Amino acid sequence: MSSETIDQIAQLEADARRQVDAAADLEALRGCESAVIGKRSALAELNAGLGALPAAERRQVGQAIGEARSRIRSRVEARAEQLRALEAAQRVEAERLDLSEVWQVPAPGGIPDRGHLHLVTTTRDALEDVFVSMGFAVAEGPEAETDFYNFEALNMPPDHPARGMWDTLYLRLGAPETVLLRTHTSPVQIHLMQTQAPPIYAVMPGRCYRRDTPDARHLAVFHQIEGLVVDRGITFGDLAGTIEAFTASFFGPGMHSRLRPSFFPFTEPSAEFEVTCPICSGAGCRTCSGSGWLELGGCGMVDPNVFVAAGIDPEEHTGFAFGFGIDRLAQVRQGLEDMRILLDNDLRFLSQF
Ligand code: PHE
Repeated sequence: MSSETIDQIAQLEADARRQVDAAADLEALRGCESAVIGKRSALAELNAGLGALPAAERRQVGQAIGEARSRIRSRVEARAEQLRALEAAQRVEAERLDLSEVWQVPAPGGIPDRGHLHLVTTTRDALEDVFVSMGFAVAEGPEAETDFYNFEALNMPPDHPARGMWDTLYLRLGAPETVLLRTHTSPVQIHLMQTQAPPIYAVMPGRCYRRDTPDARHLAVFHQIEGLVVDRGITFGDLAGTIEAFTASFFGPGMHSRLRPSFFPFTEPSAEFEVTCPICSGAGCRTCSGSGWLELGGCGMVDPNVFVAAGIDPEEHTGFAFGFGIDRLAQVRQGLEDMRILLDNDLRFLSQF
C-alpha cells in the first residue's frame, strides 16, 4: 500500500514537472502551479488523506509528499525565472527603435541604390592622386576673394587690360568691386606663398566663378586645379617636364604634351599646354578638330612681380605655375557633347560614371 502511494507520488511529480516545463508564459505557469501543488491538486488530496493511514506509513508518505512538493516548487521558480528573461527580451525587441537613416527608397528589386561621387569629384580626386604621387601637396583657398588676390598680386594693377580676360562676379561687400568670387584658382598661389616659405610644390583644386553665359564648353561655376612650384633654380625645362610627366601618368602611356606661346599677366614666359587628344589618341578627330592635340590649360614661369607681391625674393627663387579646368578635362575625357549636363543631376547621366 505504502509503496503504491510512493509510486503515485513519483508519477504525480513527473507529470507536474512536464506541465511546469511546458508553461509558455508566466500566466500559464501560475495556473499550472496551482493545478499541481495548489489546494485542489492531487498531491493536496493525497496529503488530506494521510490521516486515514497507519502512523508509520503516514510519516513516510507525508515526507514523500512534502519533498515532491518542494521539488516541484523549485521547478516552478526556475521556469518562472526563464520565462521572465524571455519576456524581457521580447519586450526589448518589440520596443526597439530603428534609428538607421532611410535615405533612399529601395528599388523595386529591393536593393537600395547607394549613389556615388560626381564625375567632377572623381576627376579631381584622380588628378590629386597623380600630383601627390609626383611629390605635390594639396592646398585650398577661399572662393570669395579680394581684388588683391585675384588680380593685383597676380601682376594686374587696377585698370590693367588683362583683367578683361576674366568676366568677374563681384560681391556687394565693402567698396564697389573690391570683393569678388574668384575667377580662377591662381589667387591660392598668393595665399600659399604668403604663408609658406619655399620650397613649394603644391596643387590647389577648387571652384571658380565667371560672369559667363553657360554654353556647351563653359560653365559659370566650374572647377580648376592650379599648380605651383617655387624653389631655387627652377627652369622652364622643369615646367615642361612636369607637364609631360603628369600627362603620361594621368592619361596613360603614349600620351604627350606640348607647349605653345601664350600670355598671362602672372607668368613670363607664358604658354598654353596641349595634350594628345584622349578621344582619338592623336589620330585626329572632331573633338580636336583633326589636330590630334587638345588644349588643356595655361602655364608659365612665375613673374617676378608676383613673387614680390607675395613676399618672396625673385633673385633667390624661381618657379612655375599652371592651371586648367577640371570640368573641361572630364568633358573631353568622357566625350561629353555639352558641359551643362554636369549640372543637371540627371541620374541617367550620373549613374554612368
Ligand atoms: N589662371 C589661368 C586661367 O584661369 C590659368 C593659369 C594658371 C595660367 C597658372 C598660367 C599659370 O586661365
